[in-house]
Amino acid sequence: MSFSKNCIVAPSLLSADFSRIHEGVRLIESCGGDWVHLDVMDGSFVPNITFGPKMVRDIRPLTQLPLDAHLMIDNPQNFITEFAGAGADYITIHYEACIHVHRVLQQIRDTGKKVGISIVPSTPAFMLSEVLAMVDLILVMTVNPGFGGQTLIPSCLEKVAYLDRLRKENGYRYLISVDGGVNRETVESIKNAGADVLISGNAFFSAEHPEDEVRYYKGIRVC
Ligand code: DX5
Ligand code: ZN
Repeated sequence: MSFSKNCIVAPSLLSADFSRIHEGVRLIESCGGDWVHLDVMDGSFVPNITFGPKMVRDIRPLTQLPLDAHLMIDNPQNFITEFAGAGADYITIHYEACIHVHRVLQQIRDTGKKVGISIVPSTPAFMLSEVLAMVDLILVMTVNPGFGGQTLIPSCLEKVAYLDRLRKENGYRYLISVDGGVNRETVESIKNAGADVLISGNAFFSAEHPEDEVRYYKGIRVC
C-alpha cells in the first residue's frame, strides 16, 4: 500500500440482503463505515429497480451515520422533496437524468441537504463546469450504473484526477466520490487519483471480514 490519505468509506446497501436491511446497516456501523450509501434505481434510467423514499425513511432511525442517496432515476426533480423528507443527508442526482440540472441542484440546496451530482462513464467531466461551484459532492461512476459487482473502468479515474485538479486550482469545496468496482486491487489508484469517498458494495458485503475492507481502504494495516 502506497497511499496514506484518509478517506470516507461508504458501503452500499445494494449488496445487502434487503429482507434484513437493519443487519446491513448494523454491519456498516460495526465495521467502521462512515456513510451508508443508498442506490435508488427506477428501471428507466438504469436497467434495475431497487427502492424509493420509503426505504430511506425506514432506514433513517436505524443509524446516526449520514445517508448518501444516489438517485439513478429519471426526472429526479419529482422526488427531491420526498428523499429530503425521508432523511437523506446527501442527495445526488445524475447529470444525464434531467435537462435542468442547475435548477434541481438548487432544489436540493433549498431542502438544506448536501448537494451531489453524478456522471456515468460515457459523460466527460467537463460537462459539469457550470455547476462545480454549487455542489458538495461529485460522484464519478466507474462502472455503468445498475448493478453491483462490476469491474472498475480505469479511464474513469482520469475524471477524478481532473476534478481534483480543478478544485485545487479554483478553490471548489466538493468531495469526489468513486462508485463501482472499489476493492483492494483498485483502491490505491482511486485514492491516488484524488477521491475522498469510496463506495463499496460487493467487496464490503461479500468479505469474510468487512471491517478489514474498511481498514484497508483507509490505509490502516490489515493483518
Ligand atoms: C451501481 C451502484 C453502486 C454499486 C457499487 O449502479 O451505484 O453503488 O453498489 O457496487 P460495487 O462496489 O459492487 O461495484
Ligand atoms: Zn451508487
